[in-house]
Amino acid sequence: MTLKMQIDNIGVTFSDGETVLEVAQRHKKEIPTLCYDNRLDPFGGCRLCIVELEGARNPIASCTTKATEGMVIRTATDTIEKYRKTLLEMVASENREIDVHPLRGYASNEFAHLSNQYKIDKSHFSGTKSGITKSDDNPFILRDYELCISCYRCVRVCAEQEGDHAINVMNRGFHTQIITEFDGLLKDSACTFCGQCIQTCPTGALGDKKALRAADQVNDSEIGKTRTICAYCGVGCSVDILTNDKKIIGIHPAMDGPANQGALCVKGQFAYDFVQHSDRLKTPLVRREDGELHETSWNEALDKAADGFKKVYNQDGKYSIYGIASGRAPSEASYLMQKFIRAGFGTNYIDNCSRA
Ligand code: SF4
Ligand code: SF4
Ligand code: FES
Repeated sequence: MTLKMQIDNIGVTFSDGETVLEVAQRHKKEIPTLCYDNRLDPFGGCRLCIVELEGARNPIASCTTKATEGMVIRTATDTIEKYRKTLLEMVASENREIDVHPLRGYASNEFAHLSNQYKIDKSHFSGTKSGITKSDDNPFILRDYELCISCYRCVRVCAEQEGDHAINVMNRGFHTQIITEFDGLLKDSACTFCGQCIQTCPTGALGDKKALRAADQVNDSEIGKTRTICAYCGVGCSVDILTNDKKIIGIHPAMDGPANQGALCVKGQFAYDFVQHSDRLKTPLVRREDGELHETSWNEALDKAADGFKKVYNQDGKYSIYGIASGRAPSEASYLMQKFIRAGFGTNYIDNCSRA
């Protein structure tokens, strides 16, 4: 059955179960959000996504309200826009800083962009600030809670997307604080350092310490972005590599990556230094009579390897050779690897590192 409603005087259709925000976004309506992350259950905390519903006394939060047949919605009336501006000014009044370096994280400029869009007066409301910044001895995650706006996206992504439940909310109101169990360090908690909380934080309260090493030298316009696939395992997570002057300065998970939808593990998120490490092998090496490794050509290296296989095969038989393919290898290389063992040595002694 086709369900129908009206958004800003236009008739639209929707499917049962969709929220008003989802229907509006599908029809290219720009409704501002702060606590919303489309990968997570709607939370309804910030109220920025309010819209007018004909017949309702008060505006409704579009991210938590299910669309129903015959609804008449207005997304950007003067009154609604005024409410949104006031909400943003109230949030800003608790916050130490709004303009943060984009290298803090994927979503770190969301609050700043909305503040600019609504031309908010940061000093309209004054008073108590909330959140206490934690010094946390770990190499990856900055915990700068004086920029926290209590949207709980970090807590929810950690629980719902990562399944870790490493962080939670302590207290309420101005005393709200994001903590680990027993309010300790992240490294002593269940945190796997996946970086999900950094990348969803809309204010940069959580920041990527590694990427921020480049912050002093690089501004927004000097950051290059290249979409690629993480090279670590066989899952195929999409990532955007951040570069400056041909050097990798950080990684953003691709929120629209079909295999990961913004999720990464600690390796994909942070372990990229090997790419430009001075110890990285760029040519084959062979061990010569002096016992040392020497640079050589691919032809010599492959001949040496083939000689080694032949020697073992002749000396100890076909079952003395076992192949383990890399989970990082593309299908074509994996196919060749099993062919090498099956056709080359006549055994099924082949597996891959994802199982081995
Ligand atoms: S890095 Fe990952 S596991 Fe650790 S707190 Fe953040 S979301 Fe949770
Ligand atoms: S740390 Fe960031 S994501 Fe977490 S509640 Fe605060 S503002 Fe939201
Ligand atoms: S985005 Fe809907 S309440 Fe925050």
